[in-house]
Amino acid sequence: MTDSSKIIDGKAFAEGLRARVATLAAAFERAAGRKAGLAVVLVGEDPASQVYVRSKGKQTVACGMASFEHKLPEDTTQEALLALVRRLNEDATVDGILVQLPLPRHLDEQAVVEAISPAKDVDGLTPVSTGRLALGLPGLVPCTPLGSLMLLKDRLGSLSGLDAVVIGRSILVGKPMAQLLLSESCTVTIAHSRTKNLADVVRRADIVVAAVGRAEMVKGDWLKPGATVIDVGINRVPALDAVAAAERKTRLVGDVDFASAVAVAGAITPVPGGVGPMTIAVLLRNALVAAHANAGIALGADAI
Ligand code: GUN
Repeated sequence: MTDSSKIIDGKAFAEGLRARVATLAAAFERAAGRKAGLAVVLVGEDPASQVYVRSKGKQTVACGMASFEHKLPEDTTQEALLALVRRLNEDATVDGILVQLPLPRHLDEQAVVEAISPAKDVDGLTPVSTGRLALGLPGLVPCTPLGSLMLLKDRLGSLSGLDAVVIGRSILVGKPMAQLLLSESCTVTIAHSRTKNLADVVRRADIVVAAVGRAEMVKGDWLKPGATVIDVGINRVPALDAVAAAERKTRLVGDVDFASAVAVAGAITPVPGGVGPMTIAVLLRNALVAAHANAGIALGADAI
């Protein structure tokens, strides 16, 4: 039997965050005389990206913000995409710009991200946002790591002095996650695919953030008893049931082997229902923070 008090319910936390965003979005509209606006750009037909973008649009509107969706064909040129980003930079009704990644291979992702105005960088991926995070200055922070940090602080309170291991060094999750944990005064180790004796490194940690993209890689016996485990992985694997698997049915699993990990961990995020729902909720939060800054309306540092 799984002890349900160990499960970190990201879905419930994300619902609460979206409710707070909606209240503040209504107040913003009254103060600014317009809705906060979020633009999402999708290039091509990637099915997973289409699902995300649809969901982002729906949740943006549900929170009382304006959603602008720009769907461009797969063969869009670099120049056309950059021209759209520049137009959105100039558009006063747009507070946040998110270009859905990955982009088709012929496009230069870095150049597109760098074209986004830092004031509208709700993904926190521009060099200005990344640099501010590294310097410990306020700014827009990537959504998945910020959502993971919110779940950690909600569960643990102060993180000061705790040993944290982040597995994965991506720009989207691993690196910003490590910076955020460092700013909370954790002792941070960034592990990755070349790390020696990974299990031993993970076993030292009070906090484990798994963001490697390898299904069920982190096992229960890698964990220090009582550790808090944040599983950022979303991996599609064949269904457990042999008949369903033969029908090519799939299931979602994280980077952590949940069944063995939950027995050892003090707290753990499930997949699905853990970190996943936080990403869009934090995106909406970031859009609202950007809207206040863009409109010159104060928002308390800890308002949301
Ligand atoms: N693709 C998967 N996750 C993300 C994200 O957080 N931001 C962007 N822009 N693209 C993504």
